[in-house]
Amino acid sequence: MTKHVPPAQQDADFRKEILQGLTADRKAVSSKWLYDDVGSHLFEAITELDAYYPTRTELGILEAQLRKYARLPGARGAMVELGSGSSRKTNLLLGAFPDLSVYMPVDISANHLKEAADRVRRTFPSLAVIPVAADFTQPLGKLPLLPELPVLVFFPGSTIGNFEKSEAVALLKSIRTAMPGAHMIVGVDRPKDEAVLVDAYDDPAGVTAAFNLNLLQRINRELGADFDLAAFEHRALWNSAESRIEMHLESLCDQTVRIGETEIQFVSGETIHTENSHKYDEAAFAEIASRSGWRVLDSDTDPDGLFSVLTLEAP
Ligand code: SAH
Ligand code: AVI
Repeated sequence: MTKHVPPAQQDADFRKEILQGLTADRKAVSSKWLYDDVGSHLFEAITELDAYYPTRTELGILEAQLRKYARLPGARGAMVELGSGSSRKTNLLLGAFPDLSVYMPVDISANHLKEAADRVRRTFPSLAVIPVAADFTQPLGKLPLLPELPVLVFFPGSTIGNFEKSEAVALLKSIRTAMPGAHMIVGVDRPKDEAVLVDAYDDPAGVTAAFNLNLLQRINRELGADFDLAAFEHRALWNSAESRIEMHLESLCDQTVRIGETEIQFVSGETIHTENSHKYDEAAFAEIASRSGWRVLDSDTDPDGLFSVLTLEAP
């Protein structure tokens, strides 16, 4: 497998970013660290929940638009998927793109990526499947693409919503620069009733809570920390000013946690901010796209207007 981030480098980045994030005045950690093996499997469990509407809704939109996507030049070239996870949505597209030559899933969760790539290989034996274990917020220029193949970028799930607006613009710019002339199919979750959103991110079965709390277990496991998981609780809040759901882990008491030699103090009620999930209406996302040099060719939604899938081109 092509690896842009050697595991030792990822371990060093994890340690550095966790220590930086937890010693800051407002404790915060990038949501990319939620996805170790356990976190990736918990995310898959989230996608099966009734409360988590985005996955089934996006699948419905993709299915309805397959013939349109199959006409994009990249459907006969290389499809690069960012944050590919289990590649479940991909199967739908691959089935509709019989002339695709290369499928290149890019994901930070290396084992999960390898398993997903093996499954795709078994289903589509004539396709060249080239998984890249990498952080896609790092320069994308090293992706092993052939210049003669047209590229289609597939960026589903509303993973773009997990970035601050300025970071989303920087990421979309970096994709455009690395893959000039590409088209992109991007999934974007829309603003909606607060109760529906909070339920999706604080589901009654507690799967999202387990996904969020797994970050502390990961820090215990990989960095020798002593987080007591029972002393923290999952919180999902709607921040209307920023049009985003925020996930936090709230300390239930005053406590000190040790990460190796470093002591981290928490007061009761203090939180670690672990994820943002921005919700964009058409106009708000069109602005992000145009600030990053992409043009919106098309935008499709479901009958209830819960989720959008946009087709972008880099003029
Ligand atoms: N595309 C799938 C999975 C979405 S979950 C779907 O739509 O259901 C988000 C995925 O992005 C996870 O697999 C996670 O490991 C990956 N991811 C998150 N941040 C990343 C980053 N900075 N670089 C690479 N992959 C990342
Ligand atoms: C991957 N990402 C788009 C998911 C989301 O909805 O923001 C991650 C997630 N977090 C909690 N539930 C799902």
